[in-house]
Formats: sequence, structure tokens, C-alpha cells
Amino acid sequence: MAQIVRIDPQNPSPPTIARAAEIIRAGGLVAFPTETVYGLGADGLNPVAVARIFEAKERPSEDPLILHIADTDALPSLVRELPPLALELGRRFWPGPLTLVLPKKPVVPDIVTAGLPTVAVRMPAHPVALALIRAAGTPIAAPSANRFGRTSPTTAQHVWEDLGDRIDLILDAGPTSIGVESTVLDLTRPVPTILRPGGLSREALESVLGPVAVLARMERGPMPAPGLFPKHYAPRAELILLMGSPPGLHRSLREISHHYTAEGHCVGLLIAEEDRSAVADLPVEVVAVGPEDDLETVARNLYQALRTLDERDVSVIIARDFGSQGLGLAIRDRLMRAAGGRVISGE
Ligand code: TXA
Ligand code: MG
Repeated sequence: MAQIVRIDPQNPSPPTIARAAEIIRAGGLVAFPTETVYGLGADGLNPVAVARIFEAKERPSEDPLILHIADTDALPSLVRELPPLALELGRRFWPGPLTLVLPKKPVVPDIVTAGLPTVAVRMPAHPVALALIRAAGTPIAAPSANRFGRTSPTTAQHVWEDLGDRIDLILDAGPTSIGVESTVLDLTRPVPTILRPGGLSREALESVLGPVAVLARMERGPMPAPGLFPKHYAPRAELILLMGSPPGLHRSLREISHHYTAEGHCVGLLIAEEDRSAVADLPVEVVAVGPEDDLETVARNLYQALRTLDERDVSVIIARDFGSQGLGLAIRDRLMRAAGGRVISGE
């Protein structure tokens, strides 16, 4: 059973960090907070330790991991080519919710990269994560600390629910601030390409890079750009993503709710504060994730909302879309994947 240890997010206690780092160095698993979601960490240069991550998560081995570093100086030892662009992005956005995909050096074990010639690297903006990486003295391989296919954990409690019986230690620094995973940017393509929209917006990247490509979901093909399996980030309930804006959106929310409640389903709605009055009279479970134009709040609350609806035992979740500006793109991506293709246009 994992031990959960509280740790101050701003001033992590050195003895606690030392203990966690010792577990990492010894090949164990430590769940730790980042600014995006909690990660499940192991020594990124130790293939046996990394194998434990895949086992604990029940994650397919063709889904590569991110190496977390605490200093840009660690990059040259891990990557074969360091384009000036990578350094520029690092200067601008690290530590932060940006993951860069670059050509890997042989020192990076194949199990980390799922055999790919590239490696994903990120410097997280969380004092606990940075202290742990420094104390461990090794890059920390860490996927989100959830079982494969489930929503990523934004609290230590979520980690406990998914992995408590399978890992050594959980560092609990409270809820994460961003709430969706990092943006994964592939710098090995002719045009920098977002493989996964996330906590750093496309607009922020474009302010430095000019136009970037976003990997279209279709392009991901049958053997998806790793990790981008069709149904992912999913609650237990079936999720339907509803596109569009009011009033059409509200009409559709009501119609679809009626349809499923008539079929005997327990329906949950994941909506904005502004949508509440439009559905107030319906016999459904409602979770509002924030004001519709406050995407930071919506992103921060998104995964907790999905877990809350699961706890209320709904069998169908109807989630509204939040547009494609800023964090909206990441929110849409996660909801689309949770929907596994069940997307309805509400005008
Ligand atoms: O915010 C985050 O990124 C969190 C925290 C813990 O840092 N981590 C995270 O890791 O979300 P994970 O393993 O759940 O997602 C990593 C994503 C996957 O979609 C994976 O396919 C992609 O990064 N990835 C990793 N290495 C890659 C590579 N060499 N080429 C392309 N994609 C890669
Ligand atoms: Mg994940």
C-alpha cells in the first residue's frame, strides 16, 4: 500500500523530498504533483523501474513516457539534436506545461520511448516536482498517475483511488493548478506540430513560433501517434460531447437529457455556470465546471467533475463544448476522447 504524505506545495520539506528521491533511486514508484496533473514517477534511465510504471498503470508498452527535468542543462545529455527553437521555447515556457519531442540519445531506454527514435521532455512548474527531480539526480519518467484509459488525477486522492495498492509513495500537495496535461509539441517534423493540446495554448506557442500544426485526430491513424488511443481520459459513464452555443446548445441539452432519462438512464450534465438555469427543471445530475469564458477554471475542474459524476452513478454524461480558443482546445480534445466519437452538434 502506498503511503500518502502531505507536502507543502511552495516549501517542500527536504526530509520528505529526500525520502521520495531515495525511492526513485532505488527503482520504486512515487506519485508526485505537477502544475498540470499528478505524475507517476520512476527513474527515467532505469528500464526496470520504468517497466513498473507500465505494470502499475496497465499501460500498453507502445505508449511512450515523458522525461521530467529540473534544468535545461539536462537536455543535451538526453537529446541528440537540440534545435535553437527548443532552447527558445524552453526559455519562454519552462518550467511549464509544455512537452517537447526531440531526437533521443541512446542513454534514454527504449521502454521510455516505446522504441521511438524521439523522446518527450518537460520541465514542470511545481516546486515539489522540481525538488524531487533534483534530489533524485536523474530525469524522472512520469505519465499521469491514473490507470490507463481513466481520467488523469488532479488530487492525491484520485491517485490513491486508481493506484494506491500498487505504488510506494504519494506526495500530496493539494489539487493541481492547471488541471489538464501538458501540450506535447513535436519539433522533429518540418513544421512544429502539437500532438496533444494541453495547458499551454496554441496561441502562446504561435506567438513564438508562428503557425504551428495540430495533429488532426484522423491523421493519428490506426497505430495512433503514441498514447492517442481512441477512448482515453474517460469516466466510467458513457460520455456524449455536445458542440455548439446557446440557444441551440441549451435546446439540445434538454432534448438529449429527455431522450436518455426516458430510456431509464441516470443522466449527468457537465456544463458552464451560465447553463444552469436552462436545465434547472430536469431530473438530472448537474456539475458546472466554471463560467464559460473562464477556461482556466473550467480546465482546473474538468477531471474532478468527471469523477464526481461517476461517483453519482450516472450512466450517461452529456458534456458541453467550450470552444477552441486558448485552453478550450485541450478541453475539447479530452472531452472528445472521453466521448470516443459520440459527438453531437447542438447547432
Ligand atoms: O502534464 C503532463 O504531461 C503529465 C505530467 C505528469 O507531466 N504527464 C502526462 O503523461 O500526461 P502521459 O504519459 O499521460 O502522456 C504523455 C503523452 C502521451 O500522449 C504520449 O504518447 C506522448 O506524450 N509522448 C511521449 N513520448 C512521445 C514521443 N517520443 N513521441 C510522441 N509522443 C510522445
Ligand atoms: Mg495520461
